[in-house]
Amino acid sequence: MHTRTIGDVKVSAIGLGGMPMSIEGRPDEQRSVAAIHAALEAGVTLIDTADAYHRDADEVGHNESLIARAVASFGRGGSEVLIATKGGHLRPGDGSWTLDGSPEYLKQACEASLKRLGVEAIGLYQFHRPDPKVPYAESVGAIRDLLDAGKIRAAGISNANPEQIRQANEILGGRLVSVQNQFSPAFRSSEPELDLCAELGIAFLPWSPLGGISQAGQLGSRFAAFAEVAREHGVSAQQVCLAWMLAKAPVVVPIPGSSRPETVRDSVAALDLNLSFEELGRLDPA
Ligand SMILES: NC(=O)c1ccc[n+]([C@@H]2O[C@H](COP(=O)([O-])OP(=O)(O)OC[C@H]3O[C@@H](n4cnc5c(N)ncnc54)[C@H](OP(=O)(O)O)[C@@H]3O)[C@@H](O)[C@H]2O)c1
Repeated sequence: MHTRTIGDVKVSAIGLGGMPMSIEGRPDEQRSVAAIHAALEAGVTLIDTADAYHRDADEVGHNESLIARAVASFGRGGSEVLIATKGGHLRPGDGSWTLDGSPEYLKQACEASLKRLGVEAIGLYQFHRPDPKVPYAESVGAIRDLLDAGKIRAAGISNANPEQIRQANEILGGRLVSVQNQFSPAFRSSEPELDLCAELGIAFLPWSPLGGISQAGQLGSRFAAFAEVAREHGVSAQQVCLAWMLAKAPVVVPIPGSSRPETVRDSVAALDLNLSFEELGRLDPA
């Protein structure tokens, strides 16, 4: 298995995103567990989740609980999996996503995630999204307090711009280990954050790397160059997309979402797909 590092933890260079298993349109639990087990079987050791990955108001943490159960029932190697969760987003149950970045809320959310994951310290805890009602320094300060208290082993942020990445790293005393931002062929504007992470040696986790749950299947029809390179290699356009991302910098660790064993296996196979300089150029026209 090809690996990369998040802080001082070695993880598979491609992770698994848990969101499609828990929000609107999710499959039954049996299929989700099969997808998680397929990932573990393939050597995936990073699973991304969040307390807000749920559908109804009364099932906060649906995805965290599902992942904890599936990893426990896998039976082998589960303890080597880094489960990365997040706090700061809420879902009132009407389909919307709201924010609470207050220190009080983040600390309470972290305690609830600890219980659902059944651990004494969370492997990677990420501040989900800046809350315009709360100074960024206060939200990140809460994450620093959680780190200092040993409630979380490593700290990350998400949906941050370069200034916020530098600020968070400073508040955390140089202990920021990951940044999770949207990045895909359809959304390339986070290249500056990716470049900054590469410069600082901080892991960069592209979210919705295939274009998001509803668009991922159409990646090849939306982006001709990806379909063309895929045809030449006899692989899916989604694999080409993940290989393209991995080639951008050694800090990149994509977390494609999946809810089926087939898509999990197809994505992991991107680790063995080497794209030439010329092919990468076609995927990234000037
Ligand atoms: N930090 C944030 O604010 C934020 C926001 C959004 C997402 N995220 C995280 O990022 C993860 C990934 O984003 P996402 O799930 O929104 O979008 P995505 O990864 O771009 O797309 C997910 C969809 O891609 C399909 N898929 C996966 N691998 C495939 C393959 N090899 N070939 C064809 N289709 C494939 C899956 O289909 P099946 O379901 O049929 O398997 C899944 O529904 C999320 O799961 C979540 O953990 C974070």
